[in-house]
Amino acid sequence: MNLSLSDFGRKLGGHSGINELMSDLGEAMAINPKLLMMGGGNPARIPAVEKIWRERMKELLATGDTFERVLANYDQPRGSPDFINALVECLNARFGWKLTKKNVCVTNGSQNSFFFLFNMLAGASGNSRRKILLPLSPEYIGYAEQGIDPTMFVSFRPKIEMHGDHEFKYRIDFDALKISDDVAAICVSRPTNPTGNVLTDSEMQRLSAMAKERGIFLMVDNAYGAPFPDIIFSDIEPFWDEHVILTLSLSKLGLPGTRNGIVIAREDVIEALSAVNAIVSLANGNLGQALVTPLLRNGELLRMSKEIIRPFYEAKSRQANAWLREALDDRVDFKVHASEGALFLWLWLPGLKISSQELYRLLKSRNLLVVSGHYSFYALRDESWRHQHECLRLTYSQPEPVVREGIRVLADVVTGL
Ligand SMILES: Cc1ncc(COP(=O)(O)O)c(C=O)c1O
Repeated sequence: MNLSLSDFGRKLGGHSGINELMSDLGEAMAINPKLLMMGGGNPARIPAVEKIWRERMKELLATGDTFERVLANYDQPRGSPDFINALVECLNARFGWKLTKKNVCVTNGSQNSFFFLFNMLAGASGNSRRKILLPLSPEYIGYAEQGIDPTMFVSFRPKIEMHGDHEFKYRIDFDALKISDDVAAICVSRPTNPTGNVLTDSEMQRLSAMAKERGIFLMVDNAYGAPFPDIIFSDIEPFWDEHVILTLSLSKLGLPGTRNGIVIAREDVIEALSAVNAIVSLANGNLGQALVTPLLRNGELLRMSKEIIRPFYEAKSRQANAWLREALDDRVDFKVHASEGALFLWLWLPGLKISSQELYRLLKSRNLLVVSGHYSFYALRDESWRHQHECLRLTYSQPEPVVREGIRVLADVVTGL
C-alpha cells in the first residue's frame, strides 16, 4: 500500500531543516563519535552544573516517596503546581512583575510551546488566514515547518550594520516593516538562534508598542535569556506585559532530556494553551520540574545561571571567535555576527562560490557538522537575496578540541574552494 499522507502529514513528515539538524546531532552524540558536532544546539556539559543536577537527583531519591510520585503520576496539563508557584515567586521577585499561577503553562519543551501557540493564533480563522510576523530574518530554524498553514510566516530582510572588517549585526529594518491586518502576532527569539543577536532595547520597545497599538501579541522566545539560563552577554532583561507572550525553557540549563518549556502569558492564552496541551500531550514530563523547583525557591537556579552558565558560554564564544578569525584571516572574505548570546557563531562568507547547503555537504563529508544558514530565511520567500546562501551556523558548545578541530576543517575547506 502506498503511504498517502494528508497535507499536514506531507508538510511535517517531509524533509525539514530541523529534522536534518536533529538527526545529525543525534548521530554525533550517540552513534558516531568521530563527527565534529558544530551543528545542533545541544547545550554543553558543564561539570559544575552537572554536579548540581546529580546532587538534586540524589535529594529527590532520598526524600520520602518523591521519586515514586514523579514517575508514577501524570502532571496537570498546565504543569506541576509546585513548580509554577516557585517560578511565579522567582520571576516576580527578580523582575517586579505581578504574575499569578494563572499566567503560566508548562509544556514538553519550547518546541511544543511554539507549535501550539503559532497554530492557536495564526492560520485559517473563518475566511481569513492569519500570519505570524518575524520582523527580522534569519530566525530560528525550528519554527520553519511549524505552521500548519504553509503561508503562516512573513518576514523582512534586516539592515546589516558593519562593525569593522569582520563583524556585523542585523538590525530590524523598521522602514520596510509592514504589519498587515492579517498579522496575529509578532515573534522574535532574543537572544536569536541562529545569529547570537540580541535585539536592542529600543528595537524591542518599538515592536512592543507596535503590537500593543494593533491589539496583537508580541511573542518573545527567551530560550537562552535571563534569568535562566542567562546565556546573554549583556545586562538586557526580559520584559512582560499583557500583550507579551514570553517563553522560557529548561533545556539550555543542561536539561534538554527532561523536555520542559514554560509560557508566560495572559490568563486566557494560558487557559487555551493548557487545553491544547491536554489534547496533544495529556501531561508534561515531571522530572525537570521536580529537579528545578527547590532551586527556584532558594535562588540557586539564578545564581548558577549568572555565575556558572553565562561566563562559561561567554568564554567559549570569545575563544571560538578568536580561533575562527585566526583560521580565516587574510585567506577568505568573512564576517561573523556580533556574538551577544546563545550558543552559536553566525558566519557570513560574502561571495561564497557554492551555496551554504553544498558547503554543509562538503563539510559533512569531512566529518564536520554545521547548519546551512539558508534554512533560517524560510519566512522571506525571496530567492533573489544571495546573502541567505552565504551563511553557516556554528555551535561552539562542544569541548574545545571539537571546536578547534572543526574550525580547522572549516577553514581548510573554505579556503580551498
Ligand atoms: C530559539 C529556540 N527556541 C526554542 C527552542 C526549543 O527548545 P526546547 O524545545 O528544548 O525547549 C530552541 C532549541 O534549540 C531554540 O533555540
